[in-house]
Amino acid sequence: MDGPRPLESVGVTSKPDRWWDGAAIYQIYPRSFSDADGDGIGDLAGIASRLDHLAGADGALGVDAIWLSPIYPSPLHDFGYDISDYTDVAAEYGTLADLNELIAACHARGLRFLMDLVPCHTSIEHPWFMEARAGRDSPKRDWFIWADAGPGGGPPSNWEAAFGGSSWEWDEASGQYYLHSFYPEQPDLNWRNPAVAAAIGDVMRFWFARGVDGFRVDAIFAAIKDDRFRDNPPDRRPHAIPGLGGDAGQDPLWSLNRPEVHDVIRHLREVAEEFPGRVLVGEAYLPVEELAGYLGHGADDEFHLAFNFELLLTPWEHQHLTLAIERSEALHPPDTIPTYALSNHDQSRHATRWGSERARAAAFLLITLRGVAVLYAGEEIGMVDADPAILPDPPFDRAGRDGYRTPMQWDATPSGGFTTGTAWLPLVDPASRNVAGQASDPASLLSLYRRLLAVRRASSALRHGRHRSIFGVGPGVLAWLREADDERVLVLLNTGDGDGPCDLAEVNGGAGEIVVATTERAGTVNLDRIKLRPHEGIAIRI
Ligand code: BGC
Repeated sequence: MDGPRPLESVGVTSKPDRWWDGAAIYQIYPRSFSDADGDGIGDLAGIASRLDHLAGADGALGVDAIWLSPIYPSPLHDFGYDISDYTDVAAEYGTLADLNELIAACHARGLRFLMDLVPCHTSIEHPWFMEARAGRDSPKRDWFIWADAGPGGGPPSNWEAAFGGSSWEWDEASGQYYLHSFYPEQPDLNWRNPAVAAAIGDVMRFWFARGVDGFRVDAIFAAIKDDRFRDNPPDRRPHAIPGLGGDAGQDPLWSLNRPEVHDVIRHLREVAEEFPGRVLVGEAYLPVEELAGYLGHGADDEFHLAFNFELLLTPWEHQHLTLAIERSEALHPPDTIPTYALSNHDQSRHATRWGSERARAAAFLLITLRGVAVLYAGEEIGMVDADPAILPDPPFDRAGRDGYRTPMQWDATPSGGFTTGTAWLPLVDPASRNVAGQASDPASLLSLYRRLLAVRRASSALRHGRHRSIFGVGPGVLAWLREADDERVLVLLNTGDGDGPCDLAEVNGGAGEIVVATTERAGTVNLDRIKLRPHEGIAIRI
């Protein structure tokens, strides 16, 4: 095997089988994290130069793993989610050797390294698709999904792509349509063809053998479609959750989340099982009751983790937040771990959606809930979306996500310390929000994230403990207990703009010790007399 060794063999002591339980994963959007060569685009050397911010150094944030959005060669119609070579690194990010070095550098500081696996579609420039497109007799034809025109001469079904328009693109040369669940430049692979499953399995092995600790698995609910291409019905679902892009007004009954998707996931899991200690995190915009099946139907044979986006998509309002938390706790199968993110490269940043004044409360929520916390680079300094007025016109991303992908703000200079050149996307407000400015300020949001993550790492209750909600504590107050065999922590969060007096009769009063708070509060508190300030969160060992 070439490349760095996997982490479990370099002396990290956490349980190699479930190191992700209670972990914090930090999502890096590589184009926007740190640019080492001055071309205005982030790169692997840039990431390597910033690891002290993340783990293994004094004052580091203290995350357990990083996940890189795609760094593979790509014509960038969907900024790397259209891959033209699954087993290489795009030149603008560096080389395979740089990647080996980065993995080794992460492992040396106890940081796990996850990549993005995009198994449902390639780029139109991937050699597999170019070969498939060459003609109906091509040996690779059936690696993708082709169909003749429908009876009226139009597309074979009414399916809508995630970013709008038909999912079917006409291929003039071969006189058939091909299917694309996302942009037309992202033809869907045909997972009913065993050769596709074998090829993607080999892609995973290629990276696992280089020491990659796991994958975030992209858009997996789109892996399998109805083989008869039946028309989707109008949308009458009571609990649909919005995914990416526009609302087509149709229920993707036949084009997403088909039952056979579980065979695909089990295949991915089988490959992962060949390599001890590796994790698969599924991405699917589904209500939790459907997402639950992606974690295995009672058997631990599908994803280890799957993003529950209900919390991200919830308004900041007490009842909505309560419902999102309760649904997550009630509907996750026993022995599985919820995975939460509040922001990512596809969604408006939460400091914009929920408001900067709630950024501390949101950090507290994410890090004190039971589960895996996925942070999106920049949220630890309160980064907000770019005002559309400063974004390029035409946009890079046709679906309008440029504003969530602006460069990381390392210092107060106009380029935010991100690049010595001209950044590929404008920076938002480096002078008012940046790492250097917050690093030494104990009252900063960054310092709060560090404290929260440090406390969680050191607390068996907060990291691995069970969750039990306490209702009716006070208007606007969320409350729950995190319980491990040796520790109990009471978590209180005032979601409201006013004071939050708490009635804690259910936990039998007495005194407790504050382990972390969003304010300067510390020491011992009397549980009979707690009144939270607006947006205040406190965690109390009882
Ligand atoms: C990724 C998006 C991407 C889409 C298609 C998503 O879930 O996060 O950025 O556009 O999959 O690959």
